[in-house]
Amino acid sequence: MTLHLRPLDVDDEVAATAAHVAMQPDDFTFLLWREHAAEWHDYVHLLSEQRRGLSLSVAMVPAAFLVADVDGEIVGRVSVRFRLNRFLMDFGGHIGYGVLPQFRRRGYATEILRQALIIARSEGLTSILITCDDDNVASRGVIEANGGVFEALGPSHDGTHQLRRYWIT
Ligand SMILES: CC(C)(COP(=O)(O)OP(=O)(O)OC[C@H]1O[C@@H](n2cnc3c(N)ncnc32)[C@H](O)[C@@H]1OP(=O)(O)O)[C@@H](O)C(=O)NCCC(=O)NCCS
Repeated sequence: MTLHLRPLDVDDEVAATAAHVAMQPDDFTFLLWREHAAEWHDYVHLLSEQRRGLSLSVAMVPAAFLVADVDGEIVGRVSVRFRLNRFLMDFGGHIGYGVLPQFRRRGYATEILRQALIIARSEGLTSILITCDDDNVASRGVIEANGGVFEALGPSHDGTHQLRRYWIT
């Protein structure tokens, strides 16, 4: 497996924007906080500031936004939140990930989460919350393959469905 996680770069605009569009049918926001920056280089800077806990807007927490790169191609992304706010505690969890439709079912998400857990632990996290929709069979598999212990079902942010809450220690 040659997948590695890396920050977004100034050269990634075309590929990352295409990924953002490709994930819309899944109702998944690939480029988190993109609307907070007008130009791409400002967005890359905002994410690097967020990783260092700087220039955070009220809804943001310190976090690493990383793309999953396989042979120079972006296949997915992950967001590793170094602490939880109310929204993340109730709905989002510490880690959120997605894999582009054309790269699914190759074990990439399982590997993304494995590597993201190493990053989370390196930031001192010992109990890591991950949530997924109750009917998201693939994400359940990803979390359980990485040692997720089911806690409970809870309502989603918009109240339309149930979320599964898992902790990884
Ligand atoms: C969920 C998602 C990340 C899975 O990515 P992936 O790279 O295909 O996942 P993996 O290849 O690592 O597969 C993980 C497990 O789910 C299974 N799986 C994958 N897609 C599946 C599907 N559509 N139906 C049933 N099982 C599926 C795999 O077989 C694997 O199980 P196994 O280890 O027992 O074989 C991807 O489908 C996605 O990005 N979906 C949209 C966004 C999303 O839901 N993100 C997660 C938010 S919590």
